[in-house]
Amino acid sequence: MKVAIIGGTGGQGLGIATRFVQAGEDVTIGSRTVEKAEAAVEKVKHLLGEVKNVASAANPDAAKWADVLVLTVPLAAQKETLISIREGAVGKPLLDATGPLESCIGGSASRYIDLPEGSAAQRAQAILPEAKVICAFNNISQSWFMQLDEAIDCDCLICGDDRDAKALVTPLIEKIPGVRVIDCGPLERACIIEKITPLLIGLNIRNRCQFGGIRVTGLEKGRACS
Ligand SMILES: NC(=O)c1ccc[n+]([C@@H]2O[C@H](COP(=O)([O-])OP(=O)(O)OC[C@H]3O[C@@H](n4cnc5c(N)ncnc54)[C@H](OP(=O)(O)O)[C@@H]3O)[C@@H](O)[C@H]2O)c1
Repeated sequence: MKVAIIGGTGGQGLGIATRFVQAGEDVTIGSRTVEKAEAAVEKVKHLLGEVKNVASAANPDAAKWADVLVLTVPLAAQKETLISIREGAVGKPLLDATGPLESCIGGSASRYIDLPEGSAAQRAQAILPEAKVICAFNNISQSWFMQLDEAIDCDCLICGDDRDAKALVTPLIEKIPGVRVIDCGPLERACIIEKITPLLIGLNIRNRCQFGGIRVTGLEKGRACS
């Protein structure tokens, strides 16, 4: 699958990009500036060796090229970034990792901002109605993604209104070792998923670590009973 990481030059985007390249997917790292995207590709190659399945592009070109988009920019940059990729996002799954955290407005990263749309992912869907927005990757830290020799001990909670899009991206996400996708239902659940992130950040601070994550238990047992 062709995966574009929009705003893939920061910690979260680079981590997700590296994991998908490692899994053998074709990845393009997007940025506002091609030079910054090229530098991010060099970082991936430094980590993984001379891999051929990673390229760089400006965000709009990365979006047009891809089958699946991943958005990894701060909340303050979400709207302008989405508008810049509007054409390339039509009809495609768009995995939105945006965290509505107070740190975007100078506050604490362990506090959530209530958005009028209900969540960052619903805001993305309102900005790009023709994309198939899925809330994803909010609860896995960049530190886990960059722990390249380890399976990630986290579930990836997702939600979205397009079932086919979720079915398409689930095996893609699960190519990252250790990650299990949990479909939490429609996009309106995104506020719950996004609120777990500041909780995890707070727990990381309290425990002086960077790997706080979430695992949902009992689901397989439920299926076995029914
Ligand atoms: N970091 C984590 O562990 C983590 C975990 C869960 C969720 N998230 C969420 O994932 C998203 C990305 O996190 P991050 O830590 O990777 O963020 P980041 O490093 O601060 O930013 C990522 C990229 O966004 C672009 N960007 C930054 N400010 C911008 C602006 N004002 N206008 C347009 N583009 C801008 C930049 O790309 P270019 O300059 O190359 O265009 C930057 O490299 C956030 O919403 C965060 O809440 C992060």
